[in-house]
Amino acid sequence: MKKIEELKVLIDKKTLANRIKELAVEINSTYDNNSTLNLICVLKGAVMFYTELIKHLKMPVKMEFVRLSSYGSSTQSKGEVKSLNLSLPDFEGQNVLVVEDIIDTGLTLDFLVKFIKQNCQAKDVKLAVLFDKKCARKYDIKPDFSAFQVDDKFIVGFGLDYEGFYRNLDYIGYFE
Ligand code: IMP
Ligand code: MG
Repeated sequence: MKKIEELKVLIDKKTLANRIKELAVEINSTYDNNSTLNLICVLKGAVMFYTELIKHLKMPVKMEFVRLSSYGSSTQSKGEVKSLNLSLPDFEGQNVLVVEDIIDTGLTLDFLVKFIKQNCQAKDVKLAVLFDKKCARKYDIKPDFSAFQVDDKFIVGFGLDYEGFYRNLDYIGYFE
């Protein structure tokens, strides 16, 4: 377990809140605000971003949760998605927005988007991420909404973890 004193602040609480609000404005203007939007939270990492984002959305929303994991306890993607809970309803021609903390290699979201498209009868599936780590991408997948770009750093806080810890921080930090 690394020491919290060694953590450097990358993005503070206020900057996170402001940028997430801006992203919500972008999402509100993309969708018909009279149609249902099914928001899928990818647990555990997206939980903080998700709860912050949905407060600013104007359309009727429905909340869904899936639990996936691709990282074990290291900081490198294992190249394999573990589905820990993937029970989703039939979306019957409705819009779906997948909400994730970070897109890294793209493995997790490539898997999830394909799964939803094949199994849930959605009209449209889009992706919103708090962080886009573009330099690490290995799968051909792009987020439709992305709050911040991040270079090849391992970041923690605001839902993101290192070995299960630091998810509760209200800012984004990194270890040098
Ligand atoms: P991907 O499947 O390679 O795109 O990895 C996505 C998952 O890896 C995310 O949902 C995160 O849980 C985790 N991840 C990737 N980069 C970081 C990071 O910098 N900090 C914490 N978790 C990360
Ligand atoms: Mg995650």
